[in-house]
Amino acid sequence: MEKDIQQLKTWIDHSDNVVFFGGAGVSTESGIPDFRSVDGLYNQKWKYPPETILSHSFFTRNPEEYYRFHREKLVIEGVRPNTAHLRLAELERQGKLKAVITQNIDGLHQLAGSKNVLELHGSILRAYCSRCGKKCSAELMNYGEGVPRCECGGVIRPDIVLYEEPLDNDVMTRAINYIRNADVLIIGGTSLNVYPAAGFINYYNGDKMALVNLSSTSYDNYADLVIHKKIGEVFSQI
Ligand code: OAD
Repeated sequence: MEKDIQQLKTWIDHSDNVVFFGGAGVSTESGIPDFRSVDGLYNQKWKYPPETILSHSFFTRNPEEYYRFHREKLVIEGVRPNTAHLRLAELERQGKLKAVITQNIDGLHQLAGSKNVLELHGSILRAYCSRCGKKCSAELMNYGEGVPRCECGGVIRPDIVLYEEPLDNDVMTRAINYIRNADVLIIGGTSLNVYPAAGFINYYNGDKMALVNLSSTSYDNYADLVIHKKIGEVFSQI
């Protein structure tokens, strides 16, 4: 095993307070494209940039186009958790991992068996009415046609945080507390470009911050250990 992965393994072996903070790169090995890689979502050709389509004002103004994008790009049928998701769930069962904090909206951590998952940006597996607030069928939203509507006539929307919308206060506070109190903080598969989420890692107080990401990030100098490898491959060895 390579030295850097061995170092991470040793930290995990000796800790019962590991916290994981992740992003889209955790799910690429499951077949979901990330946002900012060369072949990521934001570099694919589309009429508007994804940041625009995934914004509150765009959703309100143009739900048809939003849903075309949503069903074609965000909903990927048959995806399964990969080694990283599965190993994180196992670490939680072993009492070593306290929480998975994710920017992902795909529900794969829960599918892998993780229980304490803090979804900073929500989930496309949940939907509610943008008018009356009632919970609605995600099935209809993800696999139906046209703009899904509630019985009240309102547009059904995904329970995700769109650009221009605030993060949930409770989820944010809990995420910050886990990070603040963590012994080992593993950050994985995220470009750390999107705020406020990326800024939460600044609350970490310890000296065992590991950054596992294919490409470099602006936090590489800040981490105690940097591993530029595929996260599934790294987790298969720890
Ligand atoms: P990004 O696409 O910005 O970053 C993903 C990172 O994962 C990149 O730096 C890749 O190099 C890396 N990566 C890809 N595959 C990997 C692998 N197998 N192993 C390790 N690293 C890998 O995605 P996020 O940082 O998650 O927001 O983006 C944050 C937010 O931007 C998302 O939650 C989404 C998006 O707009 C909303 O939907 C609100």
